Amino acid sequence: MHPIGVFDSGLGGLSVLRALRTELPLERFVYVADSGHAPYGERDDDYLIHRSGTISRWLQSQHQIKALVVACNTATAAAIHVLRAEHPGLPIIGIEPALKPAVAASQTGVIGVMATPSTLKSEKFQRLLASLQSQARFVLQPCPGLALAIEQLDATKTGASCATFTRAMGTFGTQTGEMDTLVLGCTHYPFAESSLRMGTGDRVRYLEGGAPVARQTRRLLAEADLLQTQESPDAGRIDFHSTGDPQTLARAAEHWLGISDTAHELRI
Ligand code: SIN
Repeated sequence: MHPIGVFDSGLGGLSVLRALRTELPLERFVYVADSGHAPYGERDDDYLIHRSGTISRWLQSQHQIKALVVACNTATAAAIHVLRAEHPGLPIIGIEPALKPAVAASQTGVIGVMATPSTLKSEKFQRLLASLQSQARFVLQPCPGLALAIEQLDATKTGASCATFTRAMGTFGTQTGEMDTLVLGCTHYPFAESSLRMGTGDRVRYLEGGAPVARQTRRLLAEADLLQTQESPDAGRIDFHSTGDPQTLARAAEHWLGISDTAHELRI
């Protein structure tokens, strides 16, 4: 059975992988955490295109993937058009901040968006924002350092990153009394929801992109007649690879997904 390739700058894509496994329990996955080159959020487009290309080529040549999920908002914004041009015929699914679902969900019309500086600056995000700006007020919060803090939080299990969380939430606490919906525009952030809620309280609805990406993956696989419909011994299997510390990835997969497995070191 050919697997679905999934990659992220690090551990955040595990939140998308979780949704993919739920939506597509019969499929097999190969996950690459590019932790040796993270964080992506403050990198320029050329770097992100280069890393995304290197990883997708490796996934295709070593694992013959049947679809690719770019489980990173920053890499999607910078590189997905290049990946699609380079791999015609391969279904490629990206992730973008859930602004449209937020407009549909918000009662007050005030929506917070947390994402990396690169994502918020990208043309792709700016176009999406412009198309919806007449329907809601968006309060944008760039969060430099937050993805990295979340990676380190898992590694150390300490509260040392609290200052970063507080800084990230600062404007929401003071400026957006009416905000009822918060878009988590980076795949790392769902893993920090309990810490982030200290800034927003429980009243605010949090939206992330994992489930829509999983549904879109199912749609594209079905359209291409590539959907796995039969049980097999490989159903649900995930091969984990990290360009950083594989133990950190294995610990995060256990901590966040309940999967206890080995992760392999990847030098690309
Ligand atoms: C990061 O590596 O900075 C996080 C990238 C992202 O998920 O947008």
